Amino acid sequence: MKFTVAIDGPAAAGKGTVARAIAAEFGFAHLDTGLLYRAVGRRVLDGVPPEVAASTLRHGDVLRDDLRTPEVSRVSSEVAAVPKVRQALVAFQREFAVQDGGAVLDGRDIGTVICPDAEAKLFVTASDVARAHRRWLELTAAGHDVTEDGVLEDIRERDARDAGRSDAPMKAASDAVILNTSALDVDEASAIALEEVRTRLGGR
Ligand code: CDP
Repeated sequence: MKFTVAIDGPAAAGKGTVARAIAAEFGFAHLDTGLLYRAVGRRVLDGVPPEVAASTLRHGDVLRDDLRTPEVSRVSSEVAAVPKVRQALVAFQREFAVQDGGAVLDGRDIGTVICPDAEAKLFVTASDVARAHRRWLELTAAGHDVTEDGVLEDIRERDARDAGRSDAPMKAASDAVILNTSALDVDEASAIALEEVRTRLGGR
């Protein structure tokens, strides 16, 4: 059975949390597509040209434990604006999306460009202040020395770049359900997302 769930949204909105809940509930495979761009950004920081980094990406590159730093966040969004970088990653994402047994992918352009025919689409968002607070908690828990204001500034800059690029900009697909998690905890946001997928799965 092919069943694709596309989850998009801005930085630190809770896409990954919702995607993991869906994958666990329905037994779907999950791909965090942001990790692909983070892995490319990491290799660029190591001196590899962006197009080469994307076209020769290997599984081990996305398993590195240094992909969630503020520096990699910034560079990943810079390389994500390069059309050849995006092109190099399309086939892998589309193959993942149509695998037997169902798949959930989260990113910025899944419902619009990678999987416009996805059976379920969600655009997960929240106020930038709420998102910065959550990301600040994550980063400080991981030992990064960052301020909440600094994280907010980084998030605003990255959102503007991701939404403003000409190739596959971040935006909600016209048929996506908008899920605003500003005032929701993890369980509440996940419950709404699970219900939407259950409805779309219907009698399958
Ligand atoms: O976890 P967070 O929401 O902060 O970011 P991410 O999903 O790991 O994505 C990191 C960066 O990769 C984003 O800021 C985008 O520039 C880029 N990205 C993209 O362009 N397209 C995707 N499908 C996923 C991520």
